[in-house]
Order: sequence, then C-alpha cells, then structure tokens
Amino acid sequence: MGIGGRLMSVEWNESLFLSHDGMDDDHRQMAALINKLYLSIGESFGKEATCRAAQSLLDFARSHFDHEKKLMERYRYPDTLRHLWLHRELLDELHLLINRLEGSSANITTESIEFIDNWFTTHLRDSDAKLAFFLSTIDHDINPAPAL
Ligand SMILES: [Fe+2]
Ligand SMILES: [Fe+2]
Repeated sequence: MGIGGRLMSVEWNESLFLSHDGMDDDHRQMAALINKLYLSIGESFGKEATCRAAQSLLDFARSHFDHEKKLMERYRYPDTLRHLWLHRELLDELHLLINRLEGSSANITTESIEFIDNWFTTHLRDSDAKLAFFLSTIDHDINPAPAL
C-alpha cells in the first residue's frame, strides 16, 4: 500500500540521464535511496527504519552536492550560487523530514515526499542538465576533470 493509495517512486529514465558519468552514477544511486525512503514510508516499516532511510539519503545527497560544488568552483560555473541554493533547499527539507519522522507526523511526511520527488526530477532536468552541458563544453585536455 502506498501513500494516498499509490506507491510513489522516482522512475529512472532517459530524461534524467545527463551524459556525465560521475553525475549519472550519483543520480542513479540517489533515485534508489529516494525509492527506499518511499517504500519505507509507504509500507510502514516503522519510525526507525524510515529515519535510517531518510538519513542515508541526506548523507548521500550531501556528498553528491559537494562533488557538484567542487566541479562548479573548479570551472567557474556562472550559475553556481543559484545551484547551491537549490541544493540547500533539498537538504533543509530532508532535515525537516527527519525531525518530523521523529515526531511521527505522518501527513507532513507525505508532503515532504512529494517535495523530494518534484525537487529531484526538476533539479536534474533543469539545473543539473545545464551544469552537465556546461561541463561538456570545457576543454578537458587543458583542464582535466577531477574524478566525481
Ligand atoms: Fe546532481
Ligand atoms: Fe545539482
């Protein structure tokens, strides 16, 4: 049984694929962690398991955002500040979700899940797609890309 009668999940498909190996690998893992969180909430695995799933997603998101930040700074990406602000938005929501899970407020959790779902697909298709395109235009013979 899912939230509100449907089990929500991020569908990994070509529209989320950015042709940047490091980012794509991270995003695929992030989608899996989001789906684990959905499953945990949808199937009522309990507060502890759900908090653990949310914490794993938060930890992974933090390290992924740090990788993107390093790439943006290294190549002086012009839209860095806005991009970092958007990352902050998801981290804040995940903190809020963990706090609310600890307080067992199920209806607010559903809102958070919808936010995370929308944030993830919109961010990849818009902001991360622009970043990946920018990185693809860089001459890597002169500026070798750091491993992501
Ligand atoms: Fe990303
Ligand atoms: Fe990003």
